[in-house]
Amino acid sequence: MPEIKINLSEKDIPRQWYNLAADLPTPMPPPLGPDGNPITPSMLSKVFPDNLIEQEVSTKRWIDIPEEIIDILYRWRPAPLRRAVYLERFLKTPARIYYKDESVSPAGSHKPNTAVPQAWYNKQFGIKKLITETGAGQWGSALAFSCNLIGLECKVYMVRISFDQKPLRKIMMQTWGATCVASPSNQTNSGREILKKMPNTPGSLGIAISEAVEEAVSDTSGKTRYALGSVLNHVLLHQTIMGLETKKQLKSINELEPDIVIGCVGGGSNFAGLAFPYVCDKIHGAKIQIIPVEPTACPTLTRGPFAYDHGDVAGLTPLLAMHTLGHNFIPEPIHAGGLRYHGMAPLVSHAAVEGLLEPRAYGQLKCYESAIIWAKTEGTICAPETSHAIACAIEEAHRAREEGKEKVILFSYSGHGLMDLTGYDKYLSGQLTDYAISDAELEKGLESIKDFPKPKISKQVK
Ligand SMILES: Cc1ncc(COP(=O)(O)O)c(C=O)c1O
Repeated sequence: MPEIKINLSEKDIPRQWYNLAADLPTPMPPPLGPDGNPITPSMLSKVFPDNLIEQEVSTKRWIDIPEEIIDILYRWRPAPLRRAVYLERFLKTPARIYYKDESVSPAGSHKPNTAVPQAWYNKQFGIKKLITETGAGQWGSALAFSCNLIGLECKVYMVRISFDQKPLRKIMMQTWGATCVASPSNQTNSGREILKKMPNTPGSLGIAISEAVEEAVSDTSGKTRYALGSVLNHVLLHQTIMGLETKKQLKSINELEPDIVIGCVGGGSNFAGLAFPYVCDKIHGAKIQIIPVEPTACPTLTRGPFAYDHGDVAGLTPLLAMHTLGHNFIPEPIHAGGLRYHGMAPLVSHAAVEGLLEPRAYGQLKCYESAIIWAKTEGTICAPETSHAIACAIEEAHRAREEGKEKVILFSYSGHGLMDLTGYDKYLSGQLTDYAISDAELEKGLESIKDFPKPKISKQVK
């Protein structure tokens, strides 16, 4: 039996995060303010604390992880790297399939990797309360867990469809002391506006972000800030601990560097966390296929243009240069709630534009089918989001068999699905369908951004 649980000793935990912005071949187009000019860091200071804004705009390659943060992360990190040998046998593939198991965190996903540092930096800056949104409930519970440990109040706007589909997540947030409300709500102007126009909307991450940002910036005490669970540079930075640990783990068993790296993408954070250290290798000449996987119901990277757009529905956030389906686009209520986001992390988008990534989109039926194969071979029940990465790993393992090649496939097991069993129930009883957006829907979503400036990627290599 090959080694299938590859643990890293606590003393070997990475002590710095990796910042891809330092290595991108061309500089990223800057975020723009309402006047169309690049924003200055101080314009974000009502939304985020200055120490996180500093990380957001940093182009330093390595950023130290404070010891107090490492001390909290030790609860579950280093996270195991596992080899999916039972799946390999079932697929009769010559490929060796490894997965970084982020389901072992207290909240059950990769999200605490950034929730802990975000809460810590806010506390250092004198903040008392954090407000956020959550799609699947994973991010909300991760922030609730972290705020409790660090001593901050926490309020979470949860997308209505997930609030209804995943009531257990709400109880987790409450257990860690947070308040959780369904979005759109009657508690903010943006929520009330949406409810007036669409009283039965399933909600979306874009709407919930508007509500959370609005409440955070309208607090007059100056002691409340907003926290985002994905998309932004500092969030992706914190997640790189995943890929940095994985590199050490593969080396410890004398395994080759992966041929293929895979992650599902909602806002892009778990994918980036695992893949960015490998994107760095690719920039420096390594031959490696790096695949972000999204749902056909929300095909941001595969069908959305690279354009300036807001991160939220109400247009409260700066304009970010990213792949987008338009901030008014409300994806169908697929069960992978964390992948229902109209935009994509600017760093992931930029890497895609540079040709460093090979994005794919799958329907939810294929993904659930893969999740069931996984559960019946490896034994664990994955989050619906994670099933997109598994579907891709299975597809690539089949290809390796057809080609007779011993490839090394690595993917991000971003979370467990034990709070998401309703989706499995619907799949198993034949109630789920695939959604793929039509060209007309795509065009309609993009109408909201047609007058925005177009991002230019400077041809000049840095
Ligand atoms: C388990 C899991 N995987 C993936 C995602 C997608 O987010 P991201 O693309 O930021 O990793 C989420 C988001 O909620 C999630 O809960």
